[in-house]
Amino acid sequence: MRVSEAINSRRSMRVFKAEPVAKADIEWIISNANRAASNGNLQPWKLYVTMGKARQRLSTAILKAMDEGDHGPGGEYDVYPKEFTPVYDTRRKHVGKQLYTLLGVPKGDAAGMLKQFRKNYEFFDAPVGMILCIEKRMGGGQWIDCGIFLDQLMLLAREKGLHTCPQAAFSRYQHVVRRELAIPEDQIVICGLALGHADPDVAPNSLITERAPIQDFTTWFTE
Ligand SMILES: Cc1cc2nc3c(=O)[nH]c(=O)nc-3n(C[C@H](O)[C@H](O)[C@H](O)COP(=O)(O)O)c2cc1C
Repeated sequence: MRVSEAINSRRSMRVFKAEPVAKADIEWIISNANRAASNGNLQPWKLYVTMGKARQRLSTAILKAMDEGDHGPGGEYDVYPKEFTPVYDTRRKHVGKQLYTLLGVPKGDAAGMLKQFRKNYEFFDAPVGMILCIEKRMGGGQWIDCGIFLDQLMLLAREKGLHTCPQAAFSRYQHVVRRELAIPEDQIVICGLALGHADPDVAPNSLITERAPIQDFTTWFTE
């Protein structure tokens, strides 16, 4: 598979089939992603991989916490800017509208939205659920490194015919994730990553999100 094929066929999938993923394939993906560039070769990523009963235990624990109103202290970093300027506000709302239309959840349907949100914590039924962490002492440079590593995981998954969904939703219930996976206090939960065989026949997985043209963010200096 060409790199461009992996990039262009990657999209966030939100319905996975039960079909298992071989541990050898997961190891192959992680080993190759581990070639990611990082500032000073620090390789600051910390990865927790759950599958089988362990994956289910994590999901059950988070959903139980939600049901019991145990929302904990919340995420430990800003997933979004504190204020959205119009261009970003428009993009976020647009993709949200596209996704919820495909899911058949109308605007204002709080119960429908919550039901979909909860599916995050089942890793959208993917057989493999990963949690990406970073030590608290690390700086912005290392967050870039972890982003590169995350992208490599997602692209390498494509080469194995697998799909993914990165999930910042897990940062919100980091107190439960931390407890279940014995994540040390000096680490921040960045996000989850669902990994598995996506169901190609369901509407939400057909979403191909838009991108701004490159001239919107690229400044050239050619002479
Ligand atoms: C770090 C990160 C966290 C994300 N968290 C979530 C999430 O919690 N739940 C979800 O459904 N999608 C999540 N997404 C997926 C984005 O909504 C998606 O990447 C974006 O809309 C672009 O669509 P695409 O991935 O299909 O190209 C996340 C993406 C990234 C990069």
